[in-house]
Amino acid sequence: MLLGAVSANAQSATQDPLDGVTNVRIDVAAADGRIIPKEIYGQFSEHLGSCIYGGLWVGKDSPIPNQDGYRLDVLNALKKLQVPVLRWPGGCFADDYHWMDGIGPQEKRTKISNNNWGGTIEDNSFGTHEFLNLCELLGCEPYISGNVGSGTPEELAKWVEYMTSDSQSTVADMRRANGREKAWKVKYLGIGNEAWGCGGNMRPEYYADLFRRYTTYTRNYGGRLYKIASGASDFDYNWTEVLMKAIGNKMDAIAMHYYTVLDWNKKGSATAFSEDEYMRILQRCVGIEGCIQNHIAIMDRLDPRKRINLLVDEWGTWFDVEPGTNPGHLFQQSTMRDAIVAGLSFNIFHKYTDRIKMANIAQIVNVLQAMILTDGPKMLLTPTYHVFEMYKVFQDAEFIPVEFNAGSIKSADGAVEVPALSVTAARKDGKTYVAIVNTDLKASRTVSLSADKALSRADGRVLTAKDIHEFNDFTNGNKVAPKEFKGSKRTRNGLELTVPAMSVTVVEVR
Ligand code: AHR
Repeated sequence: MLLGAVSANAQSATQDPLDGVTNVRIDVAAADGRIIPKEIYGQFSEHLGSCIYGGLWVGKDSPIPNQDGYRLDVLNALKKLQVPVLRWPGGCFADDYHWMDGIGPQEKRTKISNNNWGGTIEDNSFGTHEFLNLCELLGCEPYISGNVGSGTPEELAKWVEYMTSDSQSTVADMRRANGREKAWKVKYLGIGNEAWGCGGNMRPEYYADLFRRYTTYTRNYGGRLYKIASGASDFDYNWTEVLMKAIGNKMDAIAMHYYTVLDWNKKGSATAFSEDEYMRILQRCVGIEGCIQNHIAIMDRLDPRKRINLLVDEWGTWFDVEPGTNPGHLFQQSTMRDAIVAGLSFNIFHKYTDRIKMANIAQIVNVLQAMILTDGPKMLLTPTYHVFEMYKVFQDAEFIPVEFNAGSIKSADGAVEVPALSVTAARKDGKTYVAIVNTDLKASRTVSLSADKALSRADGRVLTAKDIHEFNDFTNGNKVAPKEFKGSKRTRNGLELTVPAMSVTVVEVR
C-alpha cells in the first residue's frame, strides 16, 4: 500500500509524559567543550553517472553558464552549503583511477571505460587540476582517495608529490608545466577504498600490509598528510579489529561505510514507497548508531587515548535508480523521507564526535542521496540539500547533551519501531541551536525545552511536506523548502515548540 492511502491507525505512538508534551532538557552543565567538526558535513564526488560530468563540470565551451568549466548554478548552490571537505575521485572508481590520465591538455587525455559504473566512456577532462581548483573555489579541504587496488605505491607517491611538492623535482615541474605553479594544500589521503570489495577484494590482514607499504612512500611535502585506512562495511567488526591491531600506529583514521538501504537485492523506489518501507528505512538509518558504538568499542579498547578517528566516509540512502535512467549511474530522487534520514543521521553523528571526525554523504550531485540534481541546463535542490543548509550552524559548534524521552512510533504490524523524535543541541558564538526531527507521519509533536536559564524564544526554519513522498522536480521548483518556524510558545515550564509531522526543524533558542 502506498502512503497517501494510509489507514488512520497505521502508526501508533508512545509518548512520555502523558500530557503529550515531551520535556527536552538542554544539559548545558554537561557540555565539555567537545566540538562538532565541520567535516561531519562533508561531501563525496565520484566519477559515476553525472556527478562530475554534467553535474559539477560542463567544460568551458558548454552553453550552460560556467566558470572555467564548473557549472555556475551548482557552484553557487554549493557555496551556500559551506562544504567543508570533498572526497574524490571515488568510491570504486578510485581503485581504477590512474591520475596521469587526467593531467595535461584536456583534448589529449586518455579515454577509458568506467567499468564500475555502466561502462560509460570517461574522457578524463576532469582530473587533478580541475578537482583541486574546485576545492579552492568552494573553500573546502580536498580528500583524495588513492588507488591501491590496481595502482602501485610509486603511482600514489608521485601523485602526492605532484599535488603537494614545491620542490624542483621533475614531478613538481610537470605540475608547473600544466599550469599550476604553487603546490595545492592536500591534507586528507585515503589509502584505497572498500578494500574488502571493489577496492581489491582483500582480506583485512593483506590490506593492512598494503596500507603499511603505501603509506611508507606517501611523504609529507607541504603539511602533514592525514592518512585514512579503508574501513569496514557497516557491521564487519573483524575488519576494524584487525586494522586497529595491525596498523593502529600508522593510520590517522579508519573510514567505515554505511548505507541506508532496504535490501541490497530489492532496494525499492526512492519516491513510491509504502509506510512499511518508510519505517524500515528509518530503522536501517538509526541502526547506524549501534554499528558506530560497536566499532568505537573496539577502537576504545585498542586505542583508549582516542588518537585514531573514525570517519563515515560514505553514508546516505540507496534506492532503485529513477525509471529510464542508466542502472549504473545511481541517479535517484530525494523526498522528504531522505530529509528525515539526513536529520536523524546528523543527530547521531553529533553524539560521537569524540571519535567521529568526518562524514561524507554519497554523493554531492546526481548520485544516490544527492544535494543537487541536474537535467541538462536545469537544476534543483533536493530536500537533503536543505537539511545540510539548515544544519550549517552546527559546523564547529560545541556539542550540548540533551535529555528527553519521546517514545517511539511503530509500523502497522508492530514489527518496526523507531524513535518518534530526535533532538540535538550545540552552541557557537554565544548562540544556542537546537535541531528536532519528528519522524511521525501524521502527528505534530510538542516539546518543552529547558536549559540552565529561562528560554523565551526560538527562531529558525522548518522543513516539512504535505506528504512524505514529496520531492522537488525540474518543473515544480522548490516545492519542498524550509519555511520560517512559527511554532514556539513560552510557558511556565519552559519554551514549547510544536514541530509538524515529518519535519526537520533547526532553531536558535534564547
Ligand atoms: O557511492 C557509490 C559506491 O558505493 C562507491 O563507489 C563505493 O565505495 C560504494 O560501494
